[in-house]
Amino acid sequence: EKIIAFRKTLLQWYDENKRDLPWRKNTLPYSVWVSEIMLQQTRVDTVIPYYRRFLEWFPTITDLAEAPEQTLLKAWEGLGYYSRARNMQAAAKQMVELYNGEFPTTYEEIIQLKGIGPYTAGAISSISFNLPTPAVDGNLMRVISRLFEIPYDIGQPSNRKIYQAVAEILIDPDRPGDFNQALMDLGSDIESAFTPKPELNPIKEFSSAYLNGTMDQYPVKKPK
Ligand code: ADE
Repeated sequence: EKIIAFRKTLLQWYDENKRDLPWRKNTLPYSVWVSEIMLQQTRVDTVIPYYRRFLEWFPTITDLAEAPEQTLLKAWEGLGYYSRARNMQAAAKQMVELYNGEFPTTYEEIIQLKGIGPYTAGAISSISFNLPTPAVDGNLMRVISRLFEIPYDIGQPSNRKIYQAVAEILIDPDRPGDFNQALMDLGSDIESAFTPKPELNPIKEFSSAYLNGTMDQYPVKKPK
């Protein structure tokens, strides 16, 4: 039915158009984690060289846990929000203590790690462990709100769970990580908040807002 067709259309578009990014070359949870934390407040183009160097300097969770603070901060210099790096080291130490220096393999364990919230836990669980967990950020909420003309303010933290619940129904159970990353690419390029490309939108036929000509009215985001 319709959800199956939606997944197929989105994933086919992703297979043909996905960006060639270094963190898409392997799905090991450690490197996915590094990329997702860096991407939280920093643009893709800026992140790429930092991502490569970070993995060269700290190739394993244990290396990160044992890194001198100076080296860690040096690796992060220029990215800003240094608490991200400090939280990563704290999480690495948790993993050395609790999981023998390995990444835990369930969403419930992953979200317990320092600095990892629902978005990052969803991204790692889906990309690295094939779990059907959405990675709900602003991009995903923008796409989903338009699909169904959902009027709930995406700037209101308590509404996140609404978008999460819809995404849990939509997510492709066979390729959850690719599904999430397809929505990331779609949300940041084709359904960009600033320079949308409606003609190129692979899922326009599934989108209520597109079909009703209300794309510019969604998502609802009230000024604070
Ligand atoms: N932004 C956040 N996570 C991303 C990912 N995995 N790929 C591309 N852009 C992203």
